[in-house]
Amino acid sequence: MREFTVQQNQSHSVLITGSTSGIGLAIAHCFARAGHHVMLHGLASDETAQALRAEFAGYSGNQGFSAADISTEAGCAQLVADTREAIGNPSILINNAGIQHTAPAHEFPAEKWQQILAINLSAGFFLSRDLLPAMRSNGWGRIINIASVHGLVASEHKSAYCAAKHGLVGLTKVLALENADRNITANAICPGWVETPLIQPQIENIAREQQVDLDTARAELVGAKQPMARATNPSAIGELALYLCGEFANTITGAALPVDGGWSAQ
Ligand SMILES: NC(=O)c1ccc[n+]([C@@H]2O[C@H](COP(=O)([O-])OP(=O)(O)OC[C@H]3O[C@@H](n4cnc5c(N)ncnc54)[C@H](O)[C@@H]3O)[C@@H](O)[C@H]2O)c1
Repeated sequence: MREFTVQQNQSHSVLITGSTSGIGLAIAHCFARAGHHVMLHGLASDETAQALRAEFAGYSGNQGFSAADISTEAGCAQLVADTREAIGNPSILINNAGIQHTAPAHEFPAEKWQQILAINLSAGFFLSRDLLPAMRSNGWGRIINIASVHGLVASEHKSAYCAAKHGLVGLTKVLALENADRNITANAICPGWVETPLIQPQIENIAREQQVDLDTARAELVGAKQPMARATNPSAIGELALYLCGEFANTITGAALPVDGGWSAQ
């Protein structure tokens, strides 16, 4: 019990996929602010990567960056290697990278389907598979999958995204069961609308189709699904992820936690 408490209070090495922007970036700031070592990751130019590292230079923990493309198994292995080299073996994995494409299923491009499944679902599996053995031998680990409300309910035109996010919730539950005996928890966070670049094209589509300004389009997008017609601040997801790695969350596992303004309560 005592040994466990020490583990909880120490600085951990944390890999956050897709942390160059949006929710991942906010999560990275929350963990860095709390004194953890963070591995930043995402598709970014050298210039952006440098600016990002400068943004994190003031924190007490170490930091690294990888631009590995995680749409393949080899890309995931590269990210694991880059992370171990930069900040050591991560005991916290946050699978956050994700992409979106909207179209009716009968018109959905095969290439987009494959890409969404690869990045939003398979990468989470490959990274978990590669990092779990060390977490298991250390007797402590945290896996947090940033799924979506679309891991719990469906919307039109999001066949690949819903399939991937429902799959990610299922994967989370299996990882929770398989690793419950080693102080490793696995949970999914299921956000509704979050104020990030990912939702911008959908806002622009509504603005174009309905000939309204962007603020009206945003209110229309969020309010159409959420009883609370307010997009979530990305830092709220970061704070929840941090909580899931803290002392009081050590029996929360296999959960899919909605942060969705009441969307999935309907
Ligand atoms: N924004 C929302 O409203 C919302 C709601 C629910 C769930 N989510 C989920 O949250 C996560 C983050 O979303 P966001 O809105 O912050 O997105 P974002 O577009 O702001 O950031 C996506 C990140 O993923 C990285 N990425 C994309 N493809 C990659 C690849 N092939 N290899 C490596 N990195 C890649 C990007 O570089 C970027 O860092 C996603 O999984 C998304 O599905 C977002």
